[in-house]
Amino acid sequence: MAEARKPRCEGKLALVTGAAQGLGRAHARRLAEEGARVLCTDVNGDGAAETASLINEALGDGTAASIQHDVTDPAAWEAAVDAAREHIGGLNVLVNNAGIGVAGNIETCDFDDWKRCFAVNVDSIFHGCQKALPLMREHAPGSIINISSIAGLIASDTMPAYNSSKAAVWMLSKSIALHCAKNNMDIRCNSVHPTFVDTPILDGTAKSHNLDKDVLMEKLARQIPLRKVGEPDDIANAVVYLASDESKFMTGAELKLDGGISAM
Ligand SMILES: NC(=O)c1ccc[n+]([C@@H]2O[C@H](COP(=O)([O-])OP(=O)(O)OC[C@H]3O[C@@H](n4cnc5c(N)ncnc54)[C@H](O)[C@@H]3O)[C@@H](O)[C@H]2O)c1
Repeated sequence: MAEARKPRCEGKLALVTGAAQGLGRAHARRLAEEGARVLCTDVNGDGAAETASLINEALGDGTAASIQHDVTDPAAWEAAVDAAREHIGGLNVLVNNAGIGVAGNIETCDFDDWKRCFAVNVDSIFHGCQKALPLMREHAPGSIINISSIAGLIASDTMPAYNSSKAAVWMLSKSIALHCAKNNMDIRCNSVHPTFVDTPILDGTAKSHNLDKDVLMEKLARQIPLRKVGEPDDIANAVVYLASDESKFMTGAELKLDGGISAM
């Protein structure tokens, strides 16, 4: 008789930011399905609590917890790390997923929007890693997973702030990876680069382009060699791989989940 498969993230203690909806909710659920205990955090505290409830209903009480957490605020990061210690017993997987896009090309992008984009997408990772590494060292081996975007590797004329912030996430991830490796922490750090994925972020894109969501989805799919927009689990499954010890030789790398766009 075949032995039951061991959950791929058994013993992992994961904090997922931006976990109220979209990709963050999918990462949290997939990590929990693979045996991790998960702290779901989001500036939308009710949404994060709903994600944790859905996980606990499906997988048992105590699998997930939640807190309200603004990733741009260093003090809120200290509270999040304390919450990880208190609610899930420590921390060895940090998924920096919270992110936003802002409107405008280089001539029209508002400077406050530019700064907000960098605060949520990049400063969050700076603060998060600074505050979380001490606890992660106690629970090594560990994995930091930064959700960048294919837009961090390929530019567009219409998203200078998003392009630049996600490119910063890409390079910051490599610097963190080298720091952890050179200091023998047994903590890895990698970036993930999705193309368009069907989440509420695309509702905003449809609205800003005055398009019906279905029309937008078809338009986006035509730009992708695989001719389809990604599903949240396409990305969450990569997060499971990076969180698990299956990827123990992978650090400072970028994982592109882009339906072939960057191969063109
Ligand atoms: N969906 C896509 O097509 C796509 C493609 C490439 C990369 N990404 C990236 O994936 C990540 C998740 O995207 P998504 O599609 O799930 O987006 P989403 O808008 O559905 O969810 C983002 C979540 O981040 C939270 N958030 C925003 N600001 C925050 C803050 N200051 N503090 C804490 N939480 C905050 C929001 O409340 C929301 O729950 C983002 O980093 C995004 O840039 C998404």
